[in-house]
Amino acid sequence: MMEKDKFKIQGLGREKFLSGKIKVNGAKNAVLPVLASCVLFEDSFVAKNVPAIEDLNRLNEIFVDLGISMKEINTGEYFVNAENIKSHEIKEEAAKKMRASIIFSGPILARFGKLIFPHPGGCVIGARPIDIFLEAFEEMGAKIELKDEKYFIEVKGAKLKGAEIFLKIPSVTATETLIMAGVLAEGKTVLKNVALEPEVTSLIEWLNQCGAKIKGAGSAFLEIEGGSLLSGKNQIYQTIPDRLETGSFLILGALCASDLEICNCNPKDLEIIIELLKDAGVDMIVSKNSIRVNCKNRKNYKAFNIKTHEYPGFPTDLQSPMTVFLTQAKGEALVFETIFEGRLNYIEDLVNMGADIRMWDSHRVMVKGPRKLKGKELEGPDIRTGFAFVIAALVAENESMIDNVYYIDRGYEEIEKRLSAIGAEIKRIKN
Ligand code: EPZ
Repeated sequence: MMEKDKFKIQGLGREKFLSGKIKVNGAKNAVLPVLASCVLFEDSFVAKNVPAIEDLNRLNEIFVDLGISMKEINTGEYFVNAENIKSHEIKEEAAKKMRASIIFSGPILARFGKLIFPHPGGCVIGARPIDIFLEAFEEMGAKIELKDEKYFIEVKGAKLKGAEIFLKIPSVTATETLIMAGVLAEGKTVLKNVALEPEVTSLIEWLNQCGAKIKGAGSAFLEIEGGSLLSGKNQIYQTIPDRLETGSFLILGALCASDLEICNCNPKDLEIIIELLKDAGVDMIVSKNSIRVNCKNRKNYKAFNIKTHEYPGFPTDLQSPMTVFLTQAKGEALVFETIFEGRLNYIEDLVNMGADIRMWDSHRVMVKGPRKLKGKELEGPDIRTGFAFVIAALVAENESMIDNVYYIDRGYEEIEKRLSAIGAEIKRIKN
């Protein structure tokens, strides 16, 4: 995948439909922290069901800089070895392209007592500050200096001290980073008001499987007993299914499929999405590891309000795909994005396609449906809006062009092949 590839998509309009089976891949936001956790290990481990996405390539670039080796031993199966880790600096290049790069800060600081890293980049969905990370590191004994846009962090006595930390926002990556800092810190670390996302629980279970002592998984309060380096000998991490891919495909199927089966997923991780779509009138059958959905009732879908919220509330990552759904539902819907201040920056593109959406302020829009959409030239500012535009382009009449699909490739593996396999007319135009 190249930075400036485009997708040419032929709208399905009212006469054509998607159908068949689509497999959900391993969760990007689960496997990235698990792979970064290798800094806490004295040896190596294997990770399975790893999605082949651009963020994995960015992570590998950071690994190479740090002296960590990651080799694909089978499709989606990686052997990760941190025995020869040689640096405590996260370089600019990859870090600027991926917010998740910040997750390395906790384990590196915990292992080496020092760290150099740039302000992380990633999806342009808001300011994305890192104050929660920095304040927590200081509470654990670190001294922080910001010079030429880089953070230089040193720990007195080169060992983080366990501390009691209240997260003023249940930040997902801050939770993951501080859990990993606590695993090697001296004494006990207590984290309060942590994120409850399934990806956080999966990380905790993985670390405990390899010798960490973390209590409270699934609750807002965690207790971490600091100890020595973990061992991954004969340990395998099985990446959990991506609930955001599942939700994206479910919304697509509800709008465009005569019969779509979404396989290898965990419906329990997206109950809010399933409940809202069922209430709106979407016909679906939910099984243990799959969801079967169709659009036969789409002419009578009822609109509903969305208010994004930390897990298990409505996921901010599915706000833009669901807003596309609401352009096709009957009635008025308020979309209230409470997590990020810059995550409604795609509305104008949908309005240009024919949607009736009015901006109330930077956090709230009012959607009126149903409205026919017309194909346009689009460019998504983040991973999930990129996919929302794919949905809108397939719902629309005639042809759309989506620019800079690097963002979509960051979070959805080979998406054009997987969508073509269920009947979409989508072509990658190499640039
Ligand atoms: C994670 O980002 C996800 N990324 C995001 O998914 C997701 O949108 C987000 O959580 C919310 O669910 C990964 O897991 C790699 P936050 P993260 O810290 O951790 C504020 C995708 O598409 N905040 O939970 O960066 C922040 O500004 C990506 O896969 C501070 O104020 O999000 C935001 O308003 C996009 N100070 C709120 O917390 C801090 O130090 C929640 O952000 C940290 C965060």
